Amino acid sequence: MLPVIRAEDLQAFYVLETPRGKKVVRAVNGVSLVIPENTVYGLAGESGCGKTTLLKVLLGNLEPPLRHFGGRVLYRVDGEYLDALALPEGKRQKLRWTYISYIPQGSMSVFNPVARLRTTFMDFLESHVSEKMRQELLRHAEEHLERLGLSPKILEAYPHQLSGGMRQRVAIALATLLNPRVILADEPTTALDVVAQRAVLQLLFDIQRKLRNTIVLVTHDMGIHATVTTRMAIMYAGRIVEEGWTQDIFTTPLHPYTQYLIRSLPRIGDKRLRESAPGSPPSLAQLPPGCPFHPRCPFAFERCREEVPELEEVGEQKVACFLRRASHVVTS
Ligand SMILES: Nc1ncnc2c1ncn2[C@@H]1O[C@H](COP(=O)(O)OP(=O)(O)OP(=O)(O)O)[C@@H](O)[C@H]1O
Ligand SMILES: [Mg+2]
Repeated sequence: MLPVIRAEDLQAFYVLETPRGKKVVRAVNGVSLVIPENTVYGLAGESGCGKTTLLKVLLGNLEPPLRHFGGRVLYRVDGEYLDALALPEGKRQKLRWTYISYIPQGSMSVFNPVARLRTTFMDFLESHVSEKMRQELLRHAEEHLERLGLSPKILEAYPHQLSGGMRQRVAIALATLLNPRVILADEPTTALDVVAQRAVLQLLFDIQRKLRNTIVLVTHDMGIHATVTTRMAIMYAGRIVEEGWTQDIFTTPLHPYTQYLIRSLPRIGDKRLRESAPGSPPSLAQLPPGCPFHPRCPFAFERCREEVPELEEVGEQKVACFLRRASHVVTS
């Protein structure tokens, strides 16, 4: 599988001025990823671990207080690699939307609050495609809306007239309008009820199959990863701690954190309380020395408290853990 995105040792931190001096939040702290084309690629991890920030960096969308401290993001476009963080603004904007589209977490920011939705759709089309194509693409958007359980008449509404869940679905129709090669979807189902969730996932899945493009699906919901992603990465405290085929990760999770995430999933017929990892994630402004997971890890030993483990290959999986063996499963 050819890569479509290659992230190399990305570092992006929020630099905040506080009365007590500078505070640096290490939200993306040395992330390397290879995301193949023609796949649904999952990104999982607890709230605050840096998933949304990583997507912003992948988009090349860094606004203060978020600053780029190192690394590259390469996109393979027509056989060539483009560095999203080094492109001039005009080219980056073009790459964005026509090649990559982004479904942000919480969809309000996508729309102009004082314009009807149809105006946003038309403005978007006018700035990206020829007049000939516009009507056809708008028809596709209306079809997508119908599949998501919304009447195309919704385009006559203003954003504030819609519920969060409706707006989320309209944002998805907008993001898929130009048949992008890469869709970065940040928690696209979180505000939705189960029926709408299923419709959104099915539509994204169908679009992926039809366009043979890549969807990077960010969600903390491991159940969704198990059902729709092919490969996935697990993020913890700004770093990728495990990566591989989704099926392998669910059958032989190598990182103790991944093992906890999987064990905390509900199972039919099992009425025991699900177990989550003890304690809480570290502050990204004050990381512990060594492996950032070590204060919560039942297997931590000396080296874990002193050295940060790199992501290394173990068979077809990658894991950042000094134990590095499938035999260290968390036992109850
Ligand atoms: N604009 C900002 N200014 C300062 N810190 C921020 C900002 N946005 C996010 N952060 C911090 O960066 C870290 C990573 O946040 P991020 O939103 O990327 O996490 P996330 O994994 O997407 O979480 P969630 O699952 O809740 O969406 C958190 O510690 C958060 O408090
Ligand atoms: Mg987020």
